[in-house]
Amino acid sequence: MKIEIRKVKIKDAQGILDVLNPIIKTQNFSSMKEENTLADQTNFIQNLPSNAIYNLAFDLENLEIVGIQDILPQSKNFNGTGEISTFVNLNYHRQGIGERLMKATLREAKDLGYKKIQAIIRTDNRIAISFYKKNGFREMGSERIFYELNLLKKARQN
Ligand SMILES: CC(C)(COP(=O)(O)OP(=O)(O)OC[C@H]1O[C@@H](n2cnc3c(N)ncnc32)[C@H](O)[C@@H]1OP(=O)(O)O)[C@@H](O)C(=O)NCCC(=O)NCCS
Repeated sequence: MKIEIRKVKIKDAQGILDVLNPIIKTQNFSSMKEENTLADQTNFIQNLPSNAIYNLAFDLENLEIVGIQDILPQSKNFNGTGEISTFVNLNYHRQGIGERLMKATLREAKDLGYKKIQAIIRTDNRIAISFYKKNGFREMGSERIFYELNLLKKARQN
């Protein structure tokens, strides 16, 4: 599979919904209950806060969006902490798309000055937990599971 990772544009909104909504519909992974509308998604893309990162994976053979990932800064006054979300088309799971997105997004996060990336994950979402752990995140809380990656520490180790 030939995959391109690039920044999300407004025209991608419908393709993103085609990834996101089937995942929300399963009710198995995300804490989101309501499916996104085209207006929601367009509004989200248009109003990303400064320092936000929003990337997608595009399948160059089937010409469709197969994954999305964002990092949103946690506070208005940027303090280097961001929250990450990742969604891969249900038909493309376990083919390395999430990891391709992760590499690109984390590189960008370091360049933007992020120091910590947090992932808030449902405690029953074992797949997402293994995914973030494989990518260096460590469990930080026991009640509401959240995983954190210290980019400064990681950079020193590499
Ligand atoms: C979590 C998610 C983004 C992973 O994306 P993906 O492209 O399928 O993941 P990858 O193929 O890059 O897998 C990377 C690693 O994640 C872990 N992983 C992925 N799928 C897994 C599965 N079904 N079971 C166990 N571990 C899994 C593995 O460690 C895997 O590495 P490996 O294949 O070398 O063992 C994807 O499953 C998804 O979209 N889930 C629904 C949405 C969601 O829960 N998002 C997270 C909350 S924001």
